[in-house]
Amino acid sequence: MAKITASVFTSHVPAIGAAMDLGKTHEDYWKPLFAGYEYSKQWMKDNKPDVIILVFNDHATAFSLDMIPTFAIGTAAEYKPADEGWGPRPVPMVQGHPELASHIAQSVIQQDFDLTIVNKMDVDHGLTVPLSLMCGSLDPAKDAWPCPVIPFAVNVVQYPVPSGMRCFNLGQAIRKAVESFDEDLNVHIWGTGGMSHQLQGARAGLINREWDNHWLDMMINDPVACANVPHIDYVRDAGSEGIELVMWLIARGAMADISNGKVTGPAPKVTHRFYHVPASNTAVGHAILENT
Ligand code: DHB
Ligand code: FE
Repeated sequence: MAKITASVFTSHVPAIGAAMDLGKTHEDYWKPLFAGYEYSKQWMKDNKPDVIILVFNDHATAFSLDMIPTFAIGTAAEYKPADEGWGPRPVPMVQGHPELASHIAQSVIQQDFDLTIVNKMDVDHGLTVPLSLMCGSLDPAKDAWPCPVIPFAVNVVQYPVPSGMRCFNLGQAIRKAVESFDEDLNVHIWGTGGMSHQLQGARAGLINREWDNHWLDMMINDPVACANVPHIDYVRDAGSEGIELVMWLIARGAMADISNGKVTGPAPKVTHRFYHVPASNTAVGHAILENT
């Protein structure tokens, strides 16, 4: 049986990818940010999964206003790093896991969550920056990401966006799907994007440390209360792009302590937690939770 053993949560700022690709990680501005991921990179090596389900959002790269899937699962064999205007990032191709992805699609759709099936998609910074933060700089000519990745895209860009509670419940459905896959696989699920940031308008540059840290506390320790936070609170308190955080609730909902919308089991172990400002226009939050 496949099993979700851990969840990883991290912001996905594009400038972090650029700093890594251009060799700027030792600059004073970036040093404290990358220091927060040193532990995580070692943890990834020590706890290498067989597959990562990577919940992320596309930023009008693969999708556009022509087509806006609320939830989309990648069932392809591989995904190219996208060209977001400066050429594709020099990172390895992302290998998919079509068998597990198709099984999750079948199971989750039968659990009444309608997913869009994506067989071709370039993946933008929303997916590649979390991989780079957790796996370090890799040479696309000779290195590969440590394991296959199932991209799971959530619309948090164009309203209407899904609620935190819907994301939390979807996470539970994904865990059921994984646990009914008939192969011994160690699966990690990642929730990415956020924390507080607003990229445009009169409040551009908004950062709210206190709210971010309170939300992190809740996400970890009181996930049902966190799932009940309405979208308007994210936008008001964490900025218009702070809504990316609802994606973390998919990963949190997939942890073993949650069933039937409630906390029913022992809390996951908090293996690592980190928060840093600034990184471009964004606060960066990061956590690793392990099922006990
Ligand atoms: C920034 C943050 C994002 O989440 C994003 O998608 C694009 C830009 C930023 O801080 O610059
Ligand atoms: Fe973003």
